[in-house]
Amino acid sequence: MSSSENPQCGHGRQQGEDNARIREQLGRIGHKLLVMSGKGGVGKSSVAAYLALSLAKLGNRVGLLDVDLHGPSIPRMLGLEGVFGFTPEKRMLPHAYSDRLHVISIECLLEDRDTAVIWRGPVKHGVIQQFISDVEWGDLDFLVIDSPPGTGDEPLSIVQTVPDAKAVIVTTPQEIALADVRKSINFCKQVRMEVLGLVENMSGFICPHCNTETPLLGKGGGARTANQMGIHFLGSLPFDPRMVLAGDAGKPLLENPDGSPIISAVERFTTEVVTRCGKAPGPSLKMFSSCPGCAS
Ligand SMILES: Nc1ncnc2c1ncn2[C@@H]1O[C@H](COP(=O)(O)OP(=O)(O)O)[C@@H](O)[C@H]1O
Ligand SMILES: [Mg+2]
Ligand SMILES: [Zn+2]
Repeated sequence: MSSSENPQCGHGRQQGEDNARIREQLGRIGHKLLVMSGKGGVGKSSVAAYLALSLAKLGNRVGLLDVDLHGPSIPRMLGLEGVFGFTPEKRMLPHAYSDRLHVISIECLLEDRDTAVIWRGPVKHGVIQQFISDVEWGDLDFLVIDSPPGTGDEPLSIVQTVPDAKAVIVTTPQEIALADVRKSINFCKQVRMEVLGLVENMSGFICPHCNTETPLLGKGGGARTANQMGIHFLGSLPFDPRMVLAGDAGKPLLENPDGSPIISAVERFTTEVVTRCGKAPGPSLKMFSSCPGCAS
C-alpha cells in the first residue's frame, strides 16, 4: 500500500480528498480544451479567449482558465480587473465576464498586475490543481485552458490533472512556427492527450480600410502540417490589426462587431471545434445561418 493510500497518514488522506474533489469537479465539465503552441506570440491567448467568447455566445456555459502563470494575458484581453472573491468555504469565485463565461487567471490573485511570478514546477502544479479543485466552476459545457508556449510544466500539469483534456494547437503559417507545432503534436502523442486539431492564426493580413486579404506570413502551412501529421485542421484566422487594438483595450472584437472578417472566421473555427467534440449544435447555432444579407 502506498503512503497515499494509508488511512493513518494525514498527508495521504488530504491527497485522496483533493483527488476526489478534482474528479468531482471535472465530472461537472463537458469538454476540456487545452490551447497550446510551440511558440509564444502566435495568438494562443487570443484564440483561447475568442473561442471561449464564441462558445458562450452559442449558449454554452464556459469556463476560461489561464494557466500561463508567468505571462497571464487573458484578464487584460477581456478587460477584467481586480482580485476575485471567495465563498464562505474559502473557494475561489471566478470573474463573471458574462452569465455564461467565467474566468480564472493567476493575475487575479496578484495584488499588483506587474508582479513577476517565480515558482518552480511542483508549486505550479499545486496552483493548477487548485484552479480545478478549489474554484466554484459549477456545471460547464466547456472549459477552455490557455497555457504558456512549449511543452513545459503547465501543459504537463494539465495532462495529469485533467486526463481527458483535448489539445487545440495554434500555429502561424510560416515554416519556423510549424517546426514547433510538430513538437507540440509529438508531446500530445507521448502523454496520450487527444489532439482535437490545429488552427492557423495570423493567416493572411486583412486591411482594415478595404478588408482585402494579403498573405503576409504565408498561408496554408497549417493545413499542410495537419495533413502531414495526421491531425484535423480546424480552420484559419486572419491577421486583423483591429484585433491587436481590441486586445490592448480589453474589448474583444466579438463584442464589438465592426465587419471584420475575423469574426466570421472565429465562428467557423468554433463550429468546427464543437462538431469535433461531438456535441450536438446548440439552439443558438442558428446564429450562424442567419445572414443579414439574405435573411436565410
Ligand atoms: N489574428 C490576429 N490578428 C491580429 N492580431 C492578433 C491575432 N492573434 C493575436 N494577435 C495579437 O498578437 C499578440 C500576441 O497574441 P497572444 O494571444 O497574446 O499570443 P500568445 O498567447 O501565443 O503569446 C497580441 O497583441 C494579440 O492581440
Ligand atoms: Mg499567451
Ligand atoms: Zn486596403
